[in-house]
Amino acid sequence: MANLFATKPIDMILTETHEEGQHALKRALGATNLITLGIGAIIGAGIFVLTGAAAAQYAGPAIVLSFILAGIACAFAGLCYSEFASLIPIAGSAYTYGYATLGEIFAWIIGWDLILEYAFGAATVASGWSGYVNSFLQDFGIHLPPTLTATPGTQMVMYNGRWERLATVLPTLRSHGVDPAGLPHVQGVFNLVAFIAIALVTLILVIGIKESANLNSGIVIVKVAIVLTFIAIAGAYLLKHPAAAQANSHPFIPPNTGEFGHYGWSGVARGAAVIFFAYIGFDAVSTAAQEAKNPQRDMPIGILGSLVICTILYILVSGLLTGLVPYSALNVPDPVAVGIDQTGVRWGSILVKIGAIAGLGSVMLVMLLGQSRVFFSMSRDGLLPEWAGSVHPRFRTPWICSIIVGIFVAIFASLVPIGILGELVSIGTLLAFVIVCAGVWILRVRRPELERPFKTPWVPFVPIMGILVSGLMMVSLPRDTWLRLIIWLAIGMFIYFGYGRHHSRVQRLAMAESPKAPKAPKVMAD
Ligand code: ALA
Repeated sequence: MANLFATKPIDMILTETHEEGQHALKRALGATNLITLGIGAIIGAGIFVLTGAAAAQYAGPAIVLSFILAGIACAFAGLCYSEFASLIPIAGSAYTYGYATLGEIFAWIIGWDLILEYAFGAATVASGWSGYVNSFLQDFGIHLPPTLTATPGTQMVMYNGRWERLATVLPTLRSHGVDPAGLPHVQGVFNLVAFIAIALVTLILVIGIKESANLNSGIVIVKVAIVLTFIAIAGAYLLKHPAAAQANSHPFIPPNTGEFGHYGWSGVARGAAVIFFAYIGFDAVSTAAQEAKNPQRDMPIGILGSLVICTILYILVSGLLTGLVPYSALNVPDPVAVGIDQTGVRWGSILVKIGAIAGLGSVMLVMLLGQSRVFFSMSRDGLLPEWAGSVHPRFRTPWICSIIVGIFVAIFASLVPIGILGELVSIGTLLAFVIVCAGVWILRVRRPELERPFKTPWVPFVPIMGILVSGLMMVSLPRDTWLRLIIWLAIGMFIYFGYGRHHSRVQRLAMAESPKAPKAPKVMAD
């Protein structure tokens, strides 16, 4: 009888981290690569799209406090990820940490849950990316067939000489008294732009980790430069127009409307839960642990460095944005472009669109990288079929896994309307955070003697805070999101009991060690 709570011995995992040769991943990444990988995954739709709606609907100018709150919440998790990633530098990230501490069933749950973060995350971002590319091309008079820029059933209307998603322009149409039925309209058939984006990213990932990291670094330079340009332009404008800044930022925390989450302090908290999406991605650095040259030293630098840099950028951008524009005017899909328009810099909004296109591109890249590495680890453990763990002899990447993940995500992004899945991505990530924080604490108690190259400070305070804050953000998500999470995990259980449990290496090893006695085998003694 298999033991569902069997843990994978740390010593066995540590042996795997020393694997070399053509079946092992290539160690090519230094500290700078890892920081840029983190920034590549973090800055994307969250800051470029969600900030506006969160300020307009929930927090007002205090959205800057929401960013600080969410940043602190992520710091707790980031510290715990750093301890694990330097102690167990293996591609499986939270999945492997769960296996080492909580047992196989939890490891499976977390591995399955990470699909929500990485694969669904990439699909969600691909959809946002296609919207930005389409809008950018239309700025130059290039109109792609609208049926090929949206998922089936999405209503597209021709307004002001541009094809737009009806849901996006509806508030504007209403405020101008325009009846959408009177406008030329079509329905989306297949989001080819999102499909091509994922296909290209997959190709790069198959070709090599160094190539992927270099492309990511190039993109990160572009997007960070654009974010800094926004900060400089907006900062200079507000210094010259302090009265406007003061008027727009007042009241800093708009009074609560009487409904939880609508302004006031509860609005700040809800704003934090919504813009949490903007921080997702720093944990993806840990999935590159087997490709880092010196993971013990560089993993914490990559995880915490990228988190700190992005937190500072986010606080500056959100603070300046709500100084430029009254928060009520920010409920638009391109709030940062609206902000820069206010300064009168005419090329500003084009620049912001380039930043968003670049930004979302690297998010897809790192998310898909993370997904294939988690599957790689699960396959090496026998919980997924062997082909998912095979490494290309020349490129030294988990190529079959990357291609299958790419096909799945590309089809998903082009056919499924995925707006709703953004919240699933958040809840999936938060669940991973809870398990990682709990894991750090558990391992400190069970294996205090292990040498930890990076130690999370103030254990158990930091892990407990990580669990509490992530748990609270999970609770603040809608019931439907919880329901979808439960259904997703139930599907995962079905697969685990149908396949993983019977092929698990840890279980087989345990059985081999004690073939007759079904008592707790040595391998589980960790
Ligand atoms: N943090 C990533 C983004 O905002 C997922 O797009």
